[in-house]
Amino acid sequence: MKKVYIETFGCQMNEYDTELVRAILTKEKYEFTSSPEDAEIILLNTCSVRENANRKVYGRIHKIRSEKGKERVLIGVLGCMATNFRQDLLKDPNLPIDFVVGPDSYKRLPNLIREVEEEGKKAFDVTLSEFETYSDVYPLREGGVNAWIAVMRGCDNFCTFCVVPYTRGRERSRSPESVLEEIRRLAQEGFRQVTLLGQNVNSYRYEGKDFADLLEMVSKVDGIERIRFTSPHPKDFPERLIEVIAENPKVCKHIHLPLQAGNDRILDLMNRTYTQKEFLELVEKLRDRIPGLVLTTDIIVGFPTETDEEFEDTVKVVREVEFDSAFIFKYSERPKTIAARKYPDDVPEEVKTERIVRLNEIQKEISLKKNRAHIGEVHEVLIEEERTKKSDQDYQGRNDGNKIVIFPKGNYGRGQFVEVKIEDATANVLKGRVIKVLEK
Ligand code: SAH
Ligand code: SF4
Ligand code: F3S
Repeated sequence: MKKVYIETFGCQMNEYDTELVRAILTKEKYEFTSSPEDAEIILLNTCSVRENANRKVYGRIHKIRSEKGKERVLIGVLGCMATNFRQDLLKDPNLPIDFVVGPDSYKRLPNLIREVEEEGKKAFDVTLSEFETYSDVYPLREGGVNAWIAVMRGCDNFCTFCVVPYTRGRERSRSPESVLEEIRRLAQEGFRQVTLLGQNVNSYRYEGKDFADLLEMVSKVDGIERIRFTSPHPKDFPERLIEVIAENPKVCKHIHLPLQAGNDRILDLMNRTYTQKEFLELVEKLRDRIPGLVLTTDIIVGFPTETDEEFEDTVKVVREVEFDSAFIFKYSERPKTIAARKYPDDVPEEVKTERIVRLNEIQKEISLKKNRAHIGEVHEVLIEEERTKKSDQDYQGRNDGNKIVIFPKGNYGRGQFVEVKIEDATANVLKGRVIKVLEK
């Protein structure tokens, strides 16, 4: 048995892919270890969405090499930077990695590793597929209460800033049958929640079935009590999807709805296909139909040519919508993207910094206000951890809206549902005490 260590960067899709890779390699003569020191093979499942994600991976490779010294170890790069790495390898054969495998080629991993070991040369496969969905691989998960499950892969939206359509290729959905089969098995293994994943999850479509149909089918699986999904695109919210989210008790009332920018000219340059007005109307409709809806978002500041006034439109939308929380990023130019080819990255770094700091401050106030408004309420919480980052006297879980809830430990445990009376809140978490343990 060869020992493999894998480190995951980036989004939940990569977390899921890591579980696929663990399943694929465990079937062969490999076992996984949680410490890089013991490993003979080190895999980095990489992210390429912003330049600092890339930089982290290069840093990590050099660190691993220097820590391992003369010891023999194979380093493989997987995930969204794979294409990059293949080109870099071709330019610089001394780059200290041994193989490169793209997100659609993980089934070939055992062969590629063998090639490296037997032939002593570097190996790569970064071909993107229009069909691969890994429906036939059952991911090797670490256990817990939530299971990720990719229901579609790739993205055809080509937002001009985004590298994902290039790193992950064309959109394709898994059959509802294969998704349901996996989820039934997850329920048997004790998972209480599934999170359906896709770069553009609500554009799921398979032989006439759409995302609303899929949510309904998944909700019929006994044992799974909560269904989440991420990330949807604002363009794909037909009436029936809103209805299913509103009315199906298992579908959590949380939507991560990426805004990206609040100004129409910038939204157009980004190819987001909606205007400020359309986004606001969608938010209004969602809130109207789904009481208590928790809304979170992603925002990019400093997209090429964004002026101060245009940035103020983003501020305006943030103030008006009052998202529960937001991930805010500085624009980072990505090679190959339409924006990189058409629009020079001309917003100075200091301006991007000013904008991100300001927007984060505004959002933090809003998050605090929204969280404090929950004080006095009773929330149903699924317990996820029998400790918190700060204390082993507290447990933590999430409410239906995906907010973290912290409460003193007690006669209940991971995977159970409890009712928590909220007594305190910060911008990031709710705190309270358990008033009832639920039987479900
Ligand atoms: N498919 C998902 C998001 C993928 S990337 C979706 O559409 O929501 C996650 C977030 O990273 C994006 O929503 C965007 O806000 C941010 N992002 C993507 N490319 C970026 C870039 N070039 N610079 C800065 N942020 C970026
Ligand atoms: Fe990127 Fe846009 Fe696709 Fe999301 S929808 S992955 S931001 S191209
Ligand atoms: Fe990163 Fe790829 Fe996910 S670029 S955000 S790991 S899809």
